[in-house]
Amino acid sequence: MIDYKLLVKEAYEAQKTAYVPYSHWAVGAALLTKDGKIYRGCNIESSTFSPTNCAERTAFFKAISEGDKEFTAIAIVGNDVNTPIGQGDLCPPCGVCRQVMCEFCALDFEIILAKDYDKYEVYTLNQIMPLVSLPLSKK
Ligand code: THU
Repeated sequence: MIDYKLLVKEAYEAQKTAYVPYSHWAVGAALLTKDGKIYRGCNIESSTFSPTNCAERTAFFKAISEGDKEFTAIAIVGNDVNTPIGQGDLCPPCGVCRQVMCEFCALDFEIILAKDYDKYEVYTLNQIMPLVSLPLSKK
């Protein structure tokens, strides 16, 4: 049983370290491994824009670089830095992050989108990425 509230709390913790001097849009993610470890990720921006890394990919790349490759869920929160928690909206992952999820996760991988500590919606990867281009290993 996944502890959604714990993952959302971890995502809010991760959001605190977002480096967002350009967009002022702070995102936090908490990625749960199959054996119960949680990797936090935040977005990290660059003045030349394209090197910017989303919070979700930061969490995935931290995990993979530490040797973890099996995941069950990710919680994501995101809002303008001036918007208090609870007054913003959900922050669904971008297309690039969805493709990275497809690389490393099964289609029942869960994506928890939260707009407050206890207000969240849960989707499967299959729901948010239909007709996906799967990596060779899954074909
Ligand atoms: N961003 C994320 O980190 N994750 C998302 O799901 C949406 C977008 C970041 C990228 C950029 O730093 C900022 O949010 C504005 O797009």
